[in-house]
Amino acid sequence: MNLKDIINIENLPIHVAIIMDGNGRWAKKQGKNRTFGHQNGVKSVRETTEAAAELGIKYLTLYAFSTENWNRPKYEVDVLMKLLMKSINKETKTLNKNNIRLNAIGDLNSLPLASYKQLMKSIEDTSGNTRMTLTLALSYSSRWEIVDAVKKIADKIKTNDISAESIDQDMFSSFLRTNNMPDPELLIRTSGENRISNFLLWQIAYTELYFTDTLWPDFRKEDMYKALIDFQGRERRFGKTSEQINK
Ligand code: FPP
Repeated sequence: MNLKDIINIENLPIHVAIIMDGNGRWAKKQGKNRTFGHQNGVKSVRETTEAAAELGIKYLTLYAFSTENWNRPKYEVDVLMKLLMKSINKETKTLNKNNIRLNAIGDLNSLPLASYKQLMKSIEDTSGNTRMTLTLALSYSSRWEIVDAVKKIADKIKTNDISAESIDQDMFSSFLRTNNMPDPELLIRTSGENRISNFLLWQIAYTELYFTDTLWPDFRKEDMYKALIDFQGRERRFGKTSEQINK
């Protein structure tokens, strides 16, 4: 039986987030430059997006470039930026054909101006699509996002637009860049690293974590199905007891 047939369509996560990792190691294993790994990672992005949309997942969020990634060698940063923008540009038509909306979270103002403009154009061109939202975390880190939210709230208090007493979890969430999407139910990280690396720290409070040894350029639809099947075998208790959940 196909792995896809085992998935219970009634019990899919609404939002899946992925830390795409292992491009460099994948390339090194074949004696190639790290950037070769990034280039081959694009196919995995395409496959994963396709798999998620076909199944009916509403939000897919991919960690494409972290705030810390700016510290990589300039050559690698340049290649990655170019590759990201070229891929986004090239795939915009396909996103529209498949009714997928492109979104981005992160310190987008720190992107090179040409990249920023290109990204905004693709976001604008796909803004009417409703089947799935594909969010790229670009120049993103969760601590940056949280501090950014705190600054915005502080400004609003200063101008008397909100009171300190009115701050609660929902209000705080509404100041995060993910304000228009639900928290992810499933977070996948590839390449055998078992850490979160500053990704969606606030949003993953109750998220199921799935780690796989597969390196990102090898990640295919079947790997996505495996993660979803694993997710569906778990009991999500949100701090309650098993008896309360199964009542
Ligand atoms: C992590 O591998 C991957 C990245 C930093 C970049 C991800 C980018 C892509 C997959 C390119 C295309 C993306 C889109 C959205 C079109 P790594 O370099 O950290 O690998 P390593 O841990 O083996 O060194």
